[in-house]
Amino acid sequence: MACTLLFRLFLAALVVECCLGGRSLAALVEEQPLKMAYHKGALLTGNVSVHLIFYGEFTAPQRSVISDFVQSLSGTKDSLEPSVASWWGTLAKYYATSKAPLPRLLLGKQLLDAEYSLGRFLTDADLAELAARASSRSRGSLGVVLTASDVAVERFCMSRCGSHGRTSALSRGRRGGRSAYVWVGDSGTQCPGQCAWPFHQPMYGPQVPPLVPPNGDVGADGAVINLASMLAGVATNPFGDGFFQGSRAAPLEAATACPGVFGKGAYPGYPGELLLDTVTEASYNAHGAHGRRFLLPALFDPLTSACSTLA
Ligand SMILES: *[C@@H]1O[C@H](CO)[C@@H](O)[C@H](O)[C@H]1NC(C)=O
Repeated sequence: MACTLLFRLFLAALVVECCLGGRSLAALVEEQPLKMAYHKGALLTGNVSVHLIFYGEFTAPQRSVISDFVQSLSGTKDSLEPSVASWWGTLAKYYATSKAPLPRLLLGKQLLDAEYSLGRFLTDADLAELAARASSRSRGSLGVVLTASDVAVERFCMSRCGSHGRTSALSRGRRGGRSAYVWVGDSGTQCPGQCAWPFHQPMYGPQVPPLVPPNGDVGADGAVINLASMLAGVATNPFGDGFFQGSRAAPLEAATACPGVFGKGAYPGYPGELLLDTVTEASYNAHGAHGRRFLLPALFDPLTSACSTLA
């Protein structure tokens, strides 16, 4: 029972699919490191423009937290280490085995849909449609849908905080082949204890005090954690046949294989050692563009089968 509770907390930090849990738990019990298998499919590569669509009401500061994070992925001359760009760079280990170069993610267009054009409850099909509106048809384009804190999304807070998916060549308006997309919700009011941990009290497990978010916004800083996780997943497993552990239906990918891990020494309920801003007391582990700081998830190292953290 304690295991279940602990494990739910563990899973709560970065939820992907409900059923991933069983596998990780089994692995912990058996103490067998899981292998990150490559299933021989395509990975994202080249220069990829990340087009953002903000669905619902976001404040300008919230949008700039997200866009500055995306801009930080390709690196800036002035950014300090550990940086968002070095975090992204650790994914190169996946690309070494596949022989494609690690993609360079660049901030693309930003669209606003403040009028909730598809309503306040979105299905997976709606997310795919919104992503298609944001991204162009060219190959090097990735649509990212961000939903505001008052938008309900299918299975949001039930079993996931964000997701990535793909649209096939036959789907509406896309003749140029399949493309991948990402969705992340602002969980600030709907389920911060689940999707914005460790910036909010956890929904389950030991009640340790929440950490101060580096950009002062539980919803936006929490969305960055989940966006980082989904970008790592969509790059290394864009079409369901790239890198993942476990079954195709419930894959554990580059970041989701390390749920709840942000720094060295992490254990369920404790995110690990982080950097601390002595003035604001905010916790972070990566520097980014425009002097920003972010908290990013650990990434599974396919060579050592361990979760690697920046600091
Ligand atoms: C990506 O863009 C840079 C310039 O912005 C260019 O030098 C490089 O060749 C491009 N890479 C690919 C794979 O197209």
